[in-house]
Amino acid sequence: MPERDKNSKNQSLLENSAPDYAQIEKILGGSELLFKQLWDISVDGMRLTDELGNMIAVNEAFCKTVEKTKQEMIYQPFPVIYHQKEHDKALEMYKYDLQHNAIKTHFEHERVLWNNKKVWFDFTNSFIDLPGLGKIVLSIINDITLRKNAEIDLQKSKERYELLFNSANDAVFICHLDSTHHVEKFIEINNLACNMLGFTKSELTEIDFYQIIPPKSVYTIQSVIETLLSKQHTIFEIVLLKKDRRQIPVEISSHLFEFDNKPTVLSIARNLSDRRQTERQINESGKLLRDLASRLQDIREEERTMIAREIHDELGQNLTVLKMQISLISNKLEDHQSHLKEKLLSASKLIDQTVENVQRIASKLRPGILDELGLIPAIEWQSQDFEEHTGIKCNCTLPSEEFEIDSDRSTALFRILQEALTNVARHAQAQRISIILRKVNKSLLMEITDNGRGIKDSQIKDPSALGILGMQERAIVFGGEVMINGVPDKGTNVKVKMPLDDLSNLKNQG
Ligand SMILES: Nc1ncnc2c1ncn2[C@@H]1O[C@H](COP(=O)(O)OP(=O)(O)OP(=O)(O)O)[C@@H](O)[C@H]1O
Ligand SMILES: [Mg+2]
Repeated sequence: MPERDKNSKNQSLLENSAPDYAQIEKILGGSELLFKQLWDISVDGMRLTDELGNMIAVNEAFCKTVEKTKQEMIYQPFPVIYHQKEHDKALEMYKYDLQHNAIKTHFEHERVLWNNKKVWFDFTNSFIDLPGLGKIVLSIINDITLRKNAEIDLQKSKERYELLFNSANDAVFICHLDSTHHVEKFIEINNLACNMLGFTKSELTEIDFYQIIPPKSVYTIQSVIETLLSKQHTIFEIVLLKKDRRQIPVEISSHLFEFDNKPTVLSIARNLSDRRQTERQINESGKLLRDLASRLQDIREEERTMIAREIHDELGQNLTVLKMQISLISNKLEDHQSHLKEKLLSASKLIDQTVENVQRIASKLRPGILDELGLIPAIEWQSQDFEEHTGIKCNCTLPSEEFEIDSDRSTALFRILQEALTNVARHAQAQRISIILRKVNKSLLMEITDNGRGIKDSQIKDPSALGILGMQERAIVFGGEVMINGVPDKGTNVKVKMPLDDLSNLKNQG
């Protein structure tokens, strides 16, 4: 019926204050027209199928859904709308179901249409009785492909998400924050989180979040939430409580986001137990190596001291005796034996030179001055010796006050100075050098500064720089440190801090 006519009819019924239902029933009851209109304007696809499976009527919506015209389908077996390969099976099943009153009234099914298109249909079947036509099935068919595909995609992405969530190498927790920014119960936890804390998933979703936080860490959680509210992301370390109340150290990376209209926190926790264990082992083996290196240094120092003393005392004394004997022999010689006298004189000079060499070698090995007079005179002697041998001007600023330092620390400082000076001579191309030693609080500070080309950061950090490493190791043994700094073409500064601990009483070492 044309739209305008329909409206005018409706209007006439509405205008009537007391509708004449008998009249309405008459219009509707006999109206094939009404059925035809409903059939054609329906957005649901509709089809009537007879007992043989032939379609005896299809509406417009159905034609659109299966992309065929009425003429192509009418009086044809209903499977013509499907792909060839489905024809026989579909018809057989329909006839069987009809015979056994087993036609399903409502179901969803995926089918392949005649044009190879894959579709999901929602079927609602019912029997209608049309005189003379036997059992007729009215099927209301809707194309639900879009919805179904969306559901399938959703299901797939849910599965992917669950796989990802549960196969993560770290424990993952998701929880909401309440209006007072307190953490609510967990809304999602992955398998690893359950295993890590020794709870089942349902136990973890039931318990109060604060049950897995030791009381002393509640404050940490509060400050983490504050950071999250301002920065949306934070990484922190904390201890969690397992079901059996054992503690487990973790590093947590947390993100704040909005979910279900509530502030939500996603936390990824990494178990640090293994890392802590490895750190402990590394520290222990590092300490062992350090102790070993320190012991080797001590042994080396002891050996050097012993060899220096032996050379100095034994060789020195023997040479002195030798020189005295040569002088005795020389005195006993007659005047006419002058050529022998000359030979003895040059032998005596050679002995003097050898004595000097012996002393030099001995003090190179271990300057006796360090043991006999202490650190300050040893530094003074070393700087003069350095200046003489290298021509690099050496300026010393040493404490005038007394202070006490044990021989191990003196040795360490002296050897660090020697390495720093050797480095200046070998690498710096400097003209001047300054050595400053001063006592600050309970530590001795020694600074060696040159005006050379300046060490580079990469050279300081180079793991193969064994000289620098040796300086640092010597200081670390006593809880001290060596800081090196270079400025290109300006020079290098080596700063040594050596704690004196309980040896802080001032006492003159010079
Ligand atoms: N005072 C300095 N001025 C400029 N460069 C320096 C200075 N001291 C050290 N360097 C640079 O740092 C590097 C590392 O020094 P380090 O003392 O560790 O090794 P090295 O002197 O080369 O060898 P060794 O193991 O015999 O000491 C040197 O090779 C040099 O390039
Ligand atoms: Mg060196």
